[in-house]
Amino acid sequence: MPLKLRPETALTFDDVLLSPRRSSIRSRHAVHTRTCFSRNIALAAPIVSANMDTVTEFGMARAIARLGGIGVIHRFMTVERQASEVRRVKRTEGFMVERPYNLPASASVQDARDRMDELHIGGLVVVGESDEVLGLVTARDLMFERNAARPVTDVMTPRDRLVTVRSGTSMEQARDILHEHRIEKLPVLDPDGRLQGLITAADIAKQEHWPDATKDSRGRLRVAAAVGVRSSDMARAAACVDAGADALVVDIAHGHSDPALDMVRALKARFPQVDVVGGNVASAEGVRDMVAAGADAVKVGVGAGSICITRIVTGFGVPQLSAIADCADAGQALGVPIIADGGIRTSGDITKALAAGASTVMLGSLLAGTDESPGANVVRNGQRYKVVRGMASLTANIDRQEIELGHEVDADDWERVVAEGVEAMVPMRGPVKDIVYQLVGGLRSGLSYAGATSIAELWANAEFVRITSAGKAESGAHDVQTS
Ligand code: XMP
Repeated sequence: MPLKLRPETALTFDDVLLSPRRSSIRSRHAVHTRTCFSRNIALAAPIVSANMDTVTEFGMARAIARLGGIGVIHRFMTVERQASEVRRVKRTEGFMVERPYNLPASASVQDARDRMDELHIGGLVVVGESDEVLGLVTARDLMFERNAARPVTDVMTPRDRLVTVRSGTSMEQARDILHEHRIEKLPVLDPDGRLQGLITAADIAKQEHWPDATKDSRGRLRVAAAVGVRSSDMARAAACVDAGADALVVDIAHGHSDPALDMVRALKARFPQVDVVGGNVASAEGVRDMVAAGADAVKVGVGAGSICITRIVTGFGVPQLSAIADCADAGQALGVPIIADGGIRTSGDITKALAAGASTVMLGSLLAGTDESPGANVVRNGQRYKVVRGMASLTANIDRQEIELGHEVDADDWERVVAEGVEAMVPMRGPVKDIVYQLVGGLRSGLSYAGATSIAELWANAEFVRITSAGKAESGAHDVQTS
C-alpha cells in the first residue's frame, strides 16, 4: 500500500528566514505590537506565559500582565489554590480594590497580624456588623505592639480620624487627597458609611508605572486560568471565574478531540461573559471545529515545546511554523486569534510565528528561569538553574495524581505512567521584565525589517525564504570565539 503522504513539506522556525522588505520606518518606536489574545482581550504585547507548573502562577501572571501580555495560571493544583492565585492577580492592581479584606471589631492584634500575613497586604479596614467602617489598621500600627491579645480597635485609626471618600471619586481626586493628607490608604464609603472599596497610594503608583498593562474594564490586571476536560473541571472553571478569571484555557494535548470540543462548548454555555481558549490543535480543521464549538481563540502546537516528547512517543505532530500558518488561515477567516504555543527560543522565532499568522505566542521554558517562575532553584557546578518540566512528564504526572488523591502515589504506579514530557533545567535569568523587554524589542526590530508598523501589516508583508543547514550556520555568530 502506498504511503498516504501530504504533498507539502512541513517547516519549522529554523527552516526559514524572513526576507527583508522595503521599510519607511525610521525608529523601532514607530511600530506597535498591539494584538488580541482572544476575541475580547486586547494586549499591548503578544506574549502569553504558559500554563505550566514551572512557569505561571500568581507572580508570573502579574508580571506578564503588567508588561502587556497575559499569563495562564496552570491547573496542577487544588481548585481552591488555583482560584486564589487568580484572585491575587485580580486584586494586585486597579485603582480601587473592591470588597477589600476587612476585620470585625472583635479581632485582636494577633488576628490582624495573621490576616495580613496570610493575604500579603499591609492594611485592613475594621468594620461593624452591618459593614459600617469603624477604622483602619495598618502594619505600622501593629509593628511594635507588645500585647498581641489587645483589641484591634485600640490600635487602629478610628473612623473620626480617618480620611475617607465617597464612591465615584476619580483617580486624580484620590491622588490629591492621598497627597494632601500624606496617607497611603483611602477607604471608599457608600452614603450609609458602609465599606465599598479601598484606594491605595501603591495601586495608583502602579497604574502609572505600567502603562502597557493588560487591564479589564475596572482597571484590574487580566489573567487566564487553565482547566482540564473532566466533568470535575466545571467546578474548577466556576471557582476561577468567580475569582475573576478573564479567560479559561482548555488545556489538553490533543485538542482536536470530542472531550476538548465538548468542554469548550460547555464552558461557553455556562460562562458566556468569559473568553474560552481551545487547544491544542495543529490543523485548520482543528481550528474550524474549535471555533464552531465556541472558542474565542485557538492554541496551536502539538509536540513543539522544548520539554515535549509527544512526537517521539506517539509519532504525531506538525512542525510548528507550518502548523501556525495552516491554522492561522482558518483562524483569520473566522476572526479568531491563534496562539502559537511551544518551540519559541528567541525573539526571531516570535517574529516568525507572528509572521506566519499567529496573534500571540505562548512561552514556556523561555520564561521558566526567571525570578517570577514557580520552579525550584538548583545549583550545578556553581551555576544557578531553575527546573522546568513538561506537564506530561513523569514527575508532573505523579504530582498531579497525588494532588487529586490527597496522598502519595505507590512506587509501582510510577511504572505505569507513559510520559510525553521531560524534566529539565534552565539557567536563572533574573526578572521576567528584562527578558520580555528583549523579546519585544527584537520583535519591534523584526517588524521594521518587514516594513510593518503593526502585527497585521507583518501578516500582509511577510515573505519567508527556506534555508539550508549552511544558511542556518551563517545565521548565528560564527567563525569567532564568543567565550
Ligand atoms: P516551550 O517550548 O515554550 O513550550 O517550553 C511550552 C509548551 O509545551 C507544551 N507542553 C508539553 N507538550 N508534553 C508535550 O508534548 C509535555 O509534557 C508538555 N508540557 C508542556 C505546552 O503546550 C506548553 O505551553
